[in-house]
Amino acid sequence: MNNFTFRNPTKLIFGKGTIAQIAAEIPAEAKIMMTYGGGSIRRNGVYDQVKAALKDRTVVEFGGIEPNPQYETLVQAIGLAREQGVDFLLAVGGGSVIDGTKFIATALKYEGDPWDFMVDPSKATDAVPLATVLTLPATGSEMNNGAVVSRKEFNEKLAFHNPKGYPLFSVLDPEVCYSLPQRQIVNGIVDSFAHTLEQYLTFDTQSMVMDRWAEGLLLTLVELGPKLVERHDRYDEVANFMLTATMALNGFIAMGVPQDWATHMIGHELTALHGLDHGVTLAIVYPGMMKVMRREKFDKLVQYAERVWGVTGSPEQKAEAAIGKTDAFFRSLGVKTRLSEHGIGEQTVDFIVERFRKRGWNLGESGKVTPERVAEILHDRM
Ligand code: NZQ
Ligand code: ZN
Repeated sequence: MNNFTFRNPTKLIFGKGTIAQIAAEIPAEAKIMMTYGGGSIRRNGVYDQVKAALKDRTVVEFGGIEPNPQYETLVQAIGLAREQGVDFLLAVGGGSVIDGTKFIATALKYEGDPWDFMVDPSKATDAVPLATVLTLPATGSEMNNGAVVSRKEFNEKLAFHNPKGYPLFSVLDPEVCYSLPQRQIVNGIVDSFAHTLEQYLTFDTQSMVMDRWAEGLLLTLVELGPKLVERHDRYDEVANFMLTATMALNGFIAMGVPQDWATHMIGHELTALHGLDHGVTLAIVYPGMMKVMRREKFDKLVQYAERVWGVTGSPEQKAEAAIGKTDAFFRSLGVKTRLSEHGIGEQTVDFIVERFRKRGWNLGESGKVTPERVAEILHDRM
């Protein structure tokens, strides 16, 4: 098992009716900025619940943070927060609103152009306190210190981590998910499945507990996937999904294991260049990653085939079946897993490969996902 340090300071408040508890968690004198997205919270009653809970507090609002949050929008929020003397941020939304809010929180403690810390994340060292009311189970952003922000003028989508960027608390009320469009439920299933794989499907380090924990999350998603696609208003199913998505990227399953993340880095490019939903990009890339990196990931592919998919046969047959099962699972949820199905061709592959070359990126758990292999992976997914 690899050495590790583990710490996660986010307080989780989980269950029906829990939004009402937020006032007690926010310092009485705080000048709060509530951030949100394109208006879903106004339609599903979450906005009213938050406002009711904070009725005796000073709250500035900033709405309009878009999916794949944009630098240009967030800069406006930073200006408003400075002008109003905001010292506490409350993100009410999915991963995009939460990530955007982490960017705002970091920028408020940063002198200079905030894009600096996207290019060089070591510059993200401090943040205004933030908390979240999660409305979409997928990213784990409600319980981690990472964020992904896009900038249209550069066609870029970059990630950063801030040691001070963990939400102070996050409220997870499964009932707020009933209003989600089915497409976002599917995105969330694929995203949390991929987060688990990024920390599991690497090479064996004898981190037995983490392996079993990761397999537990994967098995839960395989079981819940078809049920949630059918309908997502059954409380216990949605509650289990919500907890799974949080556990898939809050650092727990990373204890003592190597991490990959190459699929995510390639996926971010597909979103930056073509606007594909984050979850969709992962469903496209992951089977190709497994195929091209099959030798490096072989032992774990076999274990994954046995324990998650119940495959029998020779090790080679198991590894092969695991790749097919993964693609079939994503497709069974209704995701188109081929680049050609999204009208994406050779030009995009060349662009991404060249960009990774310029950035000097050799990705994956062992740095073996070179730009050449990225080309192979994407060609495999045509
Ligand atoms: O904008 P509103 O009106 O709120 O609508 C949103 C949005 O259109 C809607 N929605 C959210 N909750 C809803 C709802 N609609 C009805 N009812 C509800 N309860 O769903 C749409 C998508 O929301 P978004 O926040 O974009 O989705 P998601 O949570 O999947 O976040 C995706 C973003 O997170 C990043 C992705 O790259 C992408 O930018 N990620 C962040 C990570 C992290 N911080 O750790 C890790 C991930 O790998 C990922 O990269
Ligand atoms: Zn993701």
